Amino acid sequence: MFRAHADGALRIVSLRIPLPGRFSFLDGRRIFFLSDTHLRPTGAFPSEPGLSPWSNAGFPGDEILREADSFHPDFTLFGGDLVRHICCFDAGIAFLKALPGRWKLAVYGNWDKRRAAWFPFRVFEQELKHASFHPLLNEPFVMEGIRFWGMDDFKFGLPRYVPPRTDKIFSCVLAHNPDTVPYAMSPDDLRSVSLILCGHTHGGQIRLPGYGAVLTSSVFGKRFEYGLYEHRESSVKLYVTAGIGITFLPVRFRCPPEIVKITLVRSGE
Ligand SMILES: [Fe+2]
Repeated sequence: MFRAHADGALRIVSLRIPLPGRFSFLDGRRIFFLSDTHLRPTGAFPSEPGLSPWSNAGFPGDEILREADSFHPDFTLFGGDLVRHICCFDAGIAFLKALPGRWKLAVYGNWDKRRAAWFPFRVFEQELKHASFHPLLNEPFVMEGIRFWGMDDFKFGLPRYVPPRTDKIFSCVLAHNPDTVPYAMSPDDLRSVSLILCGHTHGGQIRLPGYGAVLTSSVFGKRFEYGLYEHRESSVKLYVTAGIGITFLPVRFRCPPEIVKITLVRSGE
């Protein structure tokens, strides 16, 4: 169900999520998940033809695009925290626009929301839409038998969850920060969901052998630091990605940037 390998500097995580029998019609659906790009300038933005606008934005954008293109995602989900420096905003939007996906959904992260006082939030929303992303702010997006619910940010927003009225729909929650889950979702809510996807912790960015994340920026400390979790009572699966970019310390140690390729599969396959 879980496979990860590092391809150069980028770790590619493959998740196969088993479908309960009533959702077997979703067998083979592909979800491409990425989060926390935190773009920052590492040189002049290129104007030469042939170079991507995000070439000097401190992340392996071209490699991610190649991986995404070859995966042919049905859904592409962005978990928030697009830029660290606002001068990279246009490059970030150009990158999001270039990502493939028949349906593209996004939630906001704390870095996206914290600057709302001086960077008009409606601009962020409009530009996400220009990049063909549907921003989800405590709201659902239902398409082809899957219901996605996008949460508001835990630190700078008011996350809220409303379960679906029927159990006949496969349900997935996208939340920037895994702290949102115990904060906004009751045990009954968790039973209404099959998959939860989060970012924010960066897996700690710096991971020590035998200990893992040194810092997680989570009120729960190391509880949701990185990787795949399963809630014992509801059996909902939660994946916390290490994300792509960096914050504060400009380094990753034993914690490469990663992207997540999710395939829904019939149970038993
Ligand atoms: Fe974050």
